[in-house]
Amino acid sequence: MSTHMATAPEQGSASSGDPILEVRELRKRYRADGPLVCDGLGFRVERGEFVAIIGPSGCGKSTLLRMMSGLLAPTSGTVALDGRTISKPPPEMALVFQDYTRSLYPWLTVEKNVRFPLAGDKKMPAAEKSRRVAEALASVGLTGFEGYYPGALSGGMQQRVAIARAMAFQPQILLLDEPFASVDALTKEGLEDTLLDVRDRLRDAGNTMLMVTHDIDEAIYLADRIVILSKPPCVVAEELQVRLPQPRTQVETRSDPEFLRIRAYIHDVMGLTHQRQAVPGQQN
Ligand SMILES: Nc1ncnc2c1ncn2[C@@H]1O[C@H](COP(=O)(O)OP(=O)(O)OP(=O)(O)O)[C@@H](O)[C@H]1O
Ligand SMILES: [Mg+2]
Repeated sequence: MSTHMATAPEQGSASSGDPILEVRELRKRYRADGPLVCDGLGFRVERGEFVAIIGPSGCGKSTLLRMMSGLLAPTSGTVALDGRTISKPPPEMALVFQDYTRSLYPWLTVEKNVRFPLAGDKKMPAAEKSRRVAEALASVGLTGFEGYYPGALSGGMQQRVAIARAMAFQPQILLLDEPFASVDALTKEGLEDTLLDVRDRLRDAGNTMLMVTHDIDEAIYLADRIVILSKPPCVVAEELQVRLPQPRTQVETRSDPEFLRIRAYIHDVMGLTHQRQAVPGQQN
């Protein structure tokens, strides 16, 4: 524990309007005799928001996203999309998985993987689909790899294909589970900014993003609001508003006093602030 607690940033759940997503009293056990993974989790997401979810490793973040996307049934509680309880994956939602090895179809080329979710849209002209695929691949730095199969790409490249697929699809709701965990630091900064660009373009259309990350700085940099989960079995520990100016830039935003204040506070809340012992004989 630090000797002085950082001052609390503005707390805040979504305003009282109709949320696009609402998680109510979510409980999950994978086996009847197994431990509770989530224990009465609840929060709301407004249309057009970018919400980051952070929490300790193993606390149930991926479990939560799978329940929110309709891929996994909760033991009790509900997830509602626009007021309707989700029981199967809704067509207006896309999920980028944490595990890239399970995200792509290995028998389809990069181009076909990214194009796949657009195939069902009979109204969109083929030329528009091609344009979106090319633009999405360019935004993740994979122009030239259209004809490759996923098995011939590195892990970070496969994850970028999965991100490009979500970007080309432009879902109403995009759920991202640690999407940048397997890419290098520089590529990651580029992808964060690409995501913010996409979000700026689609925000007026009400597109909503929810991203799990264990990178606290990334959560602050990207999000309008941060939901902090507790240790397992997880509940919502805190919700914080991130009032940082838009557009955000890697250098300025990350050195903004408000950024640093939120960062110090989250470190305190998550018990990460660690007092380093002075090494005898060394000056600080
Ligand atoms: N398919 C499963 N069957 C049984 N238990 C599971 C399953 N998937 C996850 N769990 C358990 O649920 C708990 C939460 O796992 P989850 O993957 O949701 O955590 P997480 O917060 O996403 O972790 P990380 O930060 O490491 O990605 C863990 O104890 C895990 O063992
Ligand atoms: Mg996870």
